[in-house]
Amino acid sequence: AAPYFYLFQDFWCPSNYIQGVFNFQKFFQTKEDDVFVASFPKSGTTWLKALTFAIVKRQHFASVENHPLLTSIPHALVPSPELTMDADIYDQIGHLSQMTEPRVVATHIPYPSLPKSIMESSSRIIYICRNPFDTFVSAWTFSSKANSASSASLTLEEAFEMFCKGIVYFGPWWSHMLSYWQESKTNPNKVLFLKYEDLKEDINFQVKRIAEFLGCPFSEEEESNGVMESIIKLCSFEKMKDLDVNKFGSHFKIIDNKHFFRKAEIGDWINYFSPSMVEKLSKVIEQKLSGSGLSFKIQY
Ligand code: A3P
Repeated sequence: AAPYFYLFQDFWCPSNYIQGVFNFQKFFQTKEDDVFVASFPKSGTTWLKALTFAIVKRQHFASVENHPLLTSIPHALVPSPELTMDADIYDQIGHLSQMTEPRVVATHIPYPSLPKSIMESSSRIIYICRNPFDTFVSAWTFSSKANSASSASLTLEEAFEMFCKGIVYFGPWWSHMLSYWQESKTNPNKVLFLKYEDLKEDINFQVKRIAEFLGCPFSEEEESNGVMESIIKLCSFEKMKDLDVNKFGSHFKIIDNKHFFRKAEIGDWINYFSPSMVEKLSKVIEQKLSGSGLSFKIQY
């Protein structure tokens, strides 16, 4: 059976997330220094969460590299109030209020459905998106693993049809991306819009950008004494994939953390797409994003 989604506030919400999303909207109290890491699923959330966490918390640690919190950073849903927290499946909002400040809270909720208190505060949002070809392959391979124990996984072709119609977790993906894209244009101090591909291309530059946006730029000393470099290393795919928490831990007992680390490459979609799929997705991208100014470099 296919996973089922509800069209909830104009986005496709997985049934088991509705309560968490609703609670987040209704009960979450934003703090002025909160940082939200927002993304469409499989766009590099895990990477951006780790980077953001390490960047905003670095002043608290004498040595970033050796701090026990950072060396066990995970990723996602390690259920520790000290670490980043995913708001979407958060049905015990109490935990969020116990996190040390500044809090780094991750969410897949589209911009218009975020709690209003986020807009009314001076908190910041960093959004990451990824080209839809790789996002699709990452999502499909992930869900085949996540659902392998049940009969819920879709074939590549079935999943692709749904992706092109926008019927995917937190989709349509184009509305998701465009909602943050437009906000980042009208309100650049509130929303920083990033692309996975740009982080892969020049992580130093993007890490500096994130720190500046969050009001905690790297000093010249931090750049020269290796603090910035060690953050980048700590959050690299190889390093994170190799952490015990990510090798053996699990994401709220729903999915093994190891599935969040697959290849981390640009262009792996070529191994999955037929020529007709390439044509179809290219058309959808063209139709949905044209005129918005948002585009992706796809190497055919
Ligand atoms: P692939 O499936 O293409 O390998 P998300 O974190 O939003 O779920 O996205 C998962 C994708 O990000 C996966 O892509 C995963 O391998 C990649 N990823 C995870 N950690 C990463 C890191 N530290 N650096 C770069 N990419 C990473």
